Amino acid sequence: MAKHAELHYDGKIYQLPIVEGTENELALDISKLRDDTGFITLDIGYKNTGATKSAITFLDGEEGILRYRGYAIEELAEKSSFLEVSYLLIYGELPTAAQLELFTKTIRRRTMMHEDIRKIFDGFPANAHPMGVLASLVCSLSAFFPSHRTMAEMDTNITRLLAKMPTLAAWAYRNERGFPLNYPRNSLNYCENFMYMMFAQPTEEYDIDPVVVQALNTLLILHADHEQNCSTATTRIVASSQVGMFSAVSAGINALWGPLHGGANQEVIEMLERIKQDGGNVKKYVDMAKDKDSGFRLMGFGHRVYKNFDPRAQIIKIACDNVLNKLGISDPTLAIAKELEEYALNDDYFVSRKLYPNVDFYSGIIYRALGIPTNMFTVMFAIGRLPGWIAQWREMTLTKEPIGRPRQIYTGSQLRAFVPVEQR
Ligand code: CMC
Repeated sequence: MAKHAELHYDGKIYQLPIVEGTENELALDISKLRDDTGFITLDIGYKNTGATKSAITFLDGEEGILRYRGYAIEELAEKSSFLEVSYLLIYGELPTAAQLELFTKTIRRRTMMHEDIRKIFDGFPANAHPMGVLASLVCSLSAFFPSHRTMAEMDTNITRLLAKMPTLAAWAYRNERGFPLNYPRNSLNYCENFMYMMFAQPTEEYDIDPVVVQALNTLLILHADHEQNCSTATTRIVASSQVGMFSAVSAGINALWGPLHGGANQEVIEMLERIKQDGGNVKKYVDMAKDKDSGFRLMGFGHRVYKNFDPRAQIIKIACDNVLNKLGISDPTLAIAKELEEYALNDDYFVSRKLYPNVDFYSGIIYRALGIPTNMFTVMFAIGRLPGWIAQWREMTLTKEPIGRPRQIYTGSQLRAFVPVEQR
C-alpha cells in the first residue's frame, strides 16, 4: 500500500503520510497540514477525526466487533470478572493468579473513606442527583490524595479510585434516601460489596443473591471501555494538561451524565414507562421519533459508531431475559421494549439511518430487576466505565501525549472599535 496520500491544491502537491493500525484501520496524518498549506481540517463532532493512537480497545462499528486488548467482549462477559477485566484494560494483559490476587486484595483494603469525605455529603441537598454527587466526590479525592506524578503514586491512586467508587456511588444513593451510610465489608467481593452498601439496612439481615451479582458483573464488563467516546475523550483531553487522575475522571463522569451518552439508560426506562402509561401504543412513539418537529428521539436507539448492531446490546438482551426469569420478575416494560425494537427494525426510517438498539436500551430493565433506582442507572454506567477511563488516562500519561488543543474556524465579527457604554 502507498505510504502517503497526495493533496493537490493550487498547483502544488502535498504528501500526507498514511498511518495504519493493527486491524488495518487507515488514517491520514495531517499534523503538518497547517504548517505546509495554511489549512486546518474541520470535523465538527469529531465524526472522522482520530484524536490519538491507542492499544486498549478495538471497535469495528460496521461488523459489530468490540474487543478489550484483543479479547472479544462476548468471551470476557461470559468468562471473566470485572476486576480481572479492569486489570486487563489498565495494564494491557490478563493478570496471572498472583497478580489478580494482589490487585483484588489491594482494592479491598482501600474501600474505606476518609471520614471528612463523609462530611461532604452533609452539604448536598437531599434531592441531589447521584451523578452530580459522584462527580463532585471523585473530584474531591484529588484534595485528599494530591500526589500523582510517580509510577507508584499512579498505581496507588488507580486502586484507590477503583476501591472507593462503589462506596461513593452507594453513599450518593443512600444520602438521597436519607438512609444511614453503610461502610464497606471487605469479606465481600466487588459486586457483592456494592449491593451490600446499597441495600443493607442496620435493622435487617441482607442476603446477596448470586444471580444479581453475576448480572452486575456482566453489565460492568460490558460498559468497561468503548474507545474514544465522549466521556473518554473528555477524560483524555482534561488529563492532557497533566492534571491528576481524579480530576480527569471526574470530568469524564460529568460528560457521561448527558442524555445522548450514559444518561440515555435513565431516559430509556422513563420512555418505556411513558409508553406503558399511554396505553402501550408503540407505533405512536415510533412515528413521533420519525417526526423531526416532535423533538422526540427513541432513546437507546442509534450509535455514532455502530451501524449494524451493538454487540453489547445483543448480550444484554439475552441477559435481560435470563435475569428476569431467574428472579421470577415479569416486567411489562420488557415486552414494550421488544415490541419497540421489532417495530423500529422493520421501519425504513430506522433501517435507512442504520439505527439499532444500543447498550442502554435493555440495561435499564436489568438494573430495575436488580432493585437499582432509575436515577442511579447512569451511576452504574460510570462504575462500569471507570477502568476504561483509568486505562485511557494512564496510556496517554505514559506515552506523554501533548496537551489537547483543537483549532477552530472563527465566524465572529472582524476587528471593530470599542463603543463606550453611554453611546451604545
Ligand atoms: N431516534 C430517532 N432518530 C434518530 C435517533 C433516535 N434515537 N438517533 C439518530 N436519529 C436520526 C437523526 O435525526 C438523523 O436523522 P437525519 O439524517 O434525517 O437528520 C440520523 O438519525 C443521524 O443521527 P445523528 O444525530 O446525526 O447521529 P449521531 O451519530 O450524531 O448520534 C446518538 C448518535 C447516539 C447521539 C443518537 O443516535 C441519539 O441521540 N440516540 C439516542 C440517545 C442514546 O440512546 N444515546 C446512547 C448512546 S450508547 C451509550 C454510549 O455509549 O454513550
